[in-house]
Amino acid sequence: MARGYKYFEAIEKHAGLLAVLTAIMVSIGGLAEITPMFMEANKVQPAAGVLPYDALRLAGRDIYVREGCYLCHSQMIRALRFETQRYGHYSVASESVYDRPFQWGSKRTGPDLARVGGKYSDVWQRLHLQDPRKVVPDSNMPGYPWLEKTPLDAADIQARMRVLRMLGDPYVDADIAGAPAALAGKNELDALVAYLQGLGVKNEPAAAAAPAGDGGTP
Ligand code: HEC
Repeated sequence: MARGYKYFEAIEKHAGLLAVLTAIMVSIGGLAEITPMFMEANKVQPAAGVLPYDALRLAGRDIYVREGCYLCHSQMIRALRFETQRYGHYSVASESVYDRPFQWGSKRTGPDLARVGGKYSDVWQRLHLQDPRKVVPDSNMPGYPWLEKTPLDAADIQARMRVLRMLGDPYVDADIAGAPAALAGKNELDALVAYLQGLGVKNEPAAAAAPAGDGGTP
């Protein structure tokens, strides 16, 4: 009989001890996986050309989150050939440094939106958001007709930008001072469309960074 067997037997026969030791092992394993990710996250720098959201797009992003668009749409293109062929360059962390909370996700009732900016005209986006069936007859996406009727609430945009600056977004005073003017006279649909039209356009990794050939797995 192997020497360690009596310990093994003791653990196996005491469910409480087994549970405690299992929990300890799982925790050690978990820490080994999670800790490097946190350290990595602090090191991620914005990709060249990635800027924090301007006031209108920031307001649009908040509406995107408020309306729960992420419940059906991811913003993360996986490094798989069929994904990059359909949606474009796979997503990289340095594109999303100014996304708080990030919108990568994995729920895809609708298509991925990471690079949807510029795919359609503003007019298409507006019609589609008001009533998707106007432009995509078989769509099962809900309409958001109230957005056009709701003026943007400019009151708290500066406070939101200041908080983001505190967290590290490089807004300068002029960005924050000009924010209410950028939102003046605009409605929620304007902001959401501005946000969508910038997705993957303002922050796509430089073509040089793309893998050679088919844009497939890195
Ligand atoms: C119940 C699920 C659902 C929700 C919620 C939803 N969508 Fe969609 N969305 C879809 C589906 C399905 C499609 C594909 C059919 C179509 O184009 O309408 C789609 C398509 C789109 C497209 C076109 C993408 C492309 O590449 O053709 C955009 C842009 C879009 N949605 C934006 C939004 C925004 C913004 C919101 C939140 C205000 C939202 N969606 C909420 C399901 C959803």
